[in-house]
Amino acid sequence: MSSPKPIKKAVFPVAGLGTRFLPATKAIPKEMLPIVDRPLIQYAVDEAREAGIEQMIFVTGRGKTAIVEHFDVAYELEDTMRERGKDLGVLESSRFVPGDIITVRQQVPLGLGHAIWCARAIVGDEPFAIFLPDELMIARQGGGTGCMKQMVDAYAQTGGNLISVLEIPRDQVSSYGVIDPGAQVSDTLTEVTGLVEKPPVDQAPSNKIVSGRYILQPEVMRVLEDQEKGAGGEIQLTDAMARMIGTQPFHAVTFDGRRYDCGSKTGFVEATLALAMEREDMGDEVRAIARRLLG
Ligand code: UTP
Repeated sequence: MSSPKPIKKAVFPVAGLGTRFLPATKAIPKEMLPIVDRPLIQYAVDEAREAGIEQMIFVTGRGKTAIVEHFDVAYELEDTMRERGKDLGVLESSRFVPGDIITVRQQVPLGLGHAIWCARAIVGDEPFAIFLPDELMIARQGGGTGCMKQMVDAYAQTGGNLISVLEIPRDQVSSYGVIDPGAQVSDTLTEVTGLVEKPPVDQAPSNKIVSGRYILQPEVMRVLEDQEKGAGGEIQLTDAMARMIGTQPFHAVTFDGRRYDCGSKTGFVEATLALAMEREDMGDEVRAIARRLLG
């Protein structure tokens, strides 16, 4: 196989309503909620950059302008910080070459599949990555790489389409997209022979759930074009991917690292605690607080 085209573009669907975090998300996008001192979207964008992705495409909706502002240059802030002799290094990861942040609007939140389809003109005829920023993927401590970097490395061997998966207790699968695994290629790589969104527990093909990171071929846009509504009355990305299986290679990568479901309140709190405890500048203090709270 000749080397597959490199992944240079990523789509970040951020047009969801974030109803599980209301009222916090009435005026602030869910993706701007911080885990310690970085908004969720920043973690995802940093993960994309680590994987060699250059162009970030945000699919936004009403009330989401703070995300775009976050990646803009804040002149007044920077001038004031400079005058006061403060270090501007903390803003470094939110800086971009002009043209590398692109936004497109999803006027009505019709579902994740529809949000991705809204980016079709910008994605063009290139394979691309997708990040769901509320799924926080953290590299293994002590030299591990991020989830998308692991996927891009696997993609260099497989080409085609890849999704990241993780195993969860079987009785919880009906809230997620679930894969039907085929041949095991390596410890962390499996063929995918089927996909189903939010199946009833007794009909789930496995306990491996899709976990918020994808590398897809541009043909998915044509499949999404006529994708009908699925689970929850939404146009589902999982359903469109399921229709592509058999026409193109499809693999699942089990991420060697940790995942926090920050779209749920308990997952969000867990991520905040875990990441705060690991920080050199505050870990000792946070652990002491946790011990005190536990009595
Ligand atoms: P979620 O299922 O987490 O939905 O979407 P949500 O609206 O963000 O949050 P809740 O469930 O109401 O609390 C998964 C991802 O797909 C995006 C979301 O922004 C999130 O990144 N999405 C979802 C869209 O961009 N558009 C949609 O129509 C639906």
